[in-house]
Amino acid sequence: MSFRTFILSLSASFGVAWLAIVIVPYFKMRSLEPIAVEEGDGTNAVYIPKRAGRIADGAEVYAANGCYQCHSQLVRPTYAGNDMFRPDMGGIAGDEERGDTRRETNAFDFQGEKFAQIGISRLGPDLSNLGRRIEAIYAKGANPEAWLYGHLYNPRWRPDRRESSCPSFRFLFKVTEIKGNPSEESLPFPVEEGMEITPKPEARALVSYLLSLKKDQPVPASLNFAPPTAAAPKAP
Ligand code: HEC
Repeated sequence: MSFRTFILSLSASFGVAWLAIVIVPYFKMRSLEPIAVEEGDGTNAVYIPKRAGRIADGAEVYAANGCYQCHSQLVRPTYAGNDMFRPDMGGIAGDEERGDTRRETNAFDFQGEKFAQIGISRLGPDLSNLGRRIEAIYAKGANPEAWLYGHLYNPRWRPDRRESSCPSFRFLFKVTEIKGNPSEESLPFPVEEGMEITPKPEARALVSYLLSLKKDQPVPASLNFAPPTAAAPKAP
């Protein structure tokens, strides 16, 4: 092989990889503007959810406590994994209010977030749709925040989760004296007489963030299980 062919093939092999990994995604994702979707009833909807300040604070608490070490926030499309078929992970198949909301995660889902918490391992369940899962399934009819406070304080307290290896985040709570009536947020765990366990502001922010995790709104680019929109009606 001549030196010239060697240099040419070297540039070609690195060039193609660079094109596919850097340049193509750059042009596909550089300007993800909110897209208006026309709903069935003729109204326009923008599907990028807005995030309140407390939710953004909660994302910082999530990062600071290393939740991403064990929890992903990425539902893979059917050609790359079985996420869509795991119960209630990629959305809820039989959501009573919203129908079938299962779909894969899409780059739009992270728009407006400072950091995409896709996670680095999957020791625990994927949390992409945790918010809706708690509202519609775990705490159905009850207070979803209380469900999460209980889990964060002691992940092993529910009879069906005795073996949970999710760490307890007790330091996000404080034990204080009850003055007058107990707080509405007080946790149902044993504590000294006259005292109560309540969440610190960090726990409140984290819980707001966790309940905001619903990556199941219809997006036009969804490949699978997207609820029908005017732009993409469901196949008959
Ligand atoms: C050492 C790994 C690990 C870390 C770190 C971790 N978790 Fe977990 N988590 C798990 C495992 C394993 C489960 C599954 C067992 C269970 O249901 O409790 C779980 C379950 C959960 C669940 C219930 C999810 C569901 O749908 O059933 C929530 C909510 C949760 N974790 C939140 C958190 C938050 C918030 C943090 C960070 C503050 C965190 N976890 C950090 C391992 C971890």
